Amino acid sequence: MSYQNILSEFNDGITYITINRPNKLNALNKDTINELNQAFKVADKDKNTKVIIVTGSGDKAFVAGADISEFADFDVENGGKLAAKGQELLFDFVENLSTPVIAAVNGFALGGGLELAMACHFRVASDNAKMGLPEVSLGVIPGYGGTQRLPQLVGKGRAMELVMTAGMIDANQALTYGLVNHVTTQDELMPLCEKIAGKIMRNSSVAIKGAIKAINANYKDGVNGFEVEIKQFGKCFGTEDFTEGTTAFLEKRKADFPGK
Ligand code: COA
Repeated sequence: MSYQNILSEFNDGITYITINRPNKLNALNKDTINELNQAFKVADKDKNTKVIIVTGSGDKAFVAGADISEFADFDVENGGKLAAKGQELLFDFVENLSTPVIAAVNGFALGGGLELAMACHFRVASDNAKMGLPEVSLGVIPGYGGTQRLPQLVGKGRAMELVMTAGMIDANQALTYGLVNHVTTQDELMPLCEKIAGKIMRNSSVAIKGAIKAINANYKDGVNGFEVEIKQFGKCFGTEDFTEGTTAFLEKRKADFPGK
């Protein structure tokens, strides 16, 4: 599949999705969001893709936000639609994928960029990364899930301060906040993501899918996460991966999961 605004490449169990508008610091316009939706959908359906890594092209930005030039003249109705469509196509979509998604945050992750990183299952940052939700400096609020996911990750008080000040934090502050799991040099960012992906790939993809569902359930309104966990736990017992995993343990060998 060919894209104008992103790159999607597969290697050794990993699909790499790169937002590729470096001249605009990889800002998310409508076309980029549509292409990302397509690329994530394809990667999630691909049996060979065990992990997806998303990053930005160039060495300056992951994503510097939603493309401001596209919504500067929007009215109330169009503003609401922009947020709803974006969440449906990209942010909620990524969060609920069955395949693990790692954000490799390689520079500015601002506004929609940080919101995309937060929709991923977890984040690794390079030491030049800068993160923030500066929307109130433009007269809007974060609209791609930022007001919900930031407090989930860093706590309410820190989220309130970051949003109200429209400030940016560096990678080490983000690590202290729990917003990113690891900080590394720019050169080591992708190797570290690949190392973590390698550990994930050794495990049952079916069980991981159930675990993502159960963990996400804790953050959904009106859903009892403990009940979702019980259901997903039970389902595992009907899978070939469960048979292989437990048999391999008892036979003192490494499991070779069929992913079914
Ligand atoms: N939307 C549209 N274009 C953007 C963009 C965005 N969110 N962020 C950066 N760009 C564009 C700039 O307009 C510029 O384009 P141009 O060369 O055609 O003028 C190009 O990317 C480079 O950005 P520039 O501002 O020159 O780089 P910088 O190093 O001086 O500053 C930032 C970097 C990230 C601090 C600055 O680009 C910025 O504040 N961006 C907006 C961040 C934001 O508010 N995001 C939330 C949006 S809801």
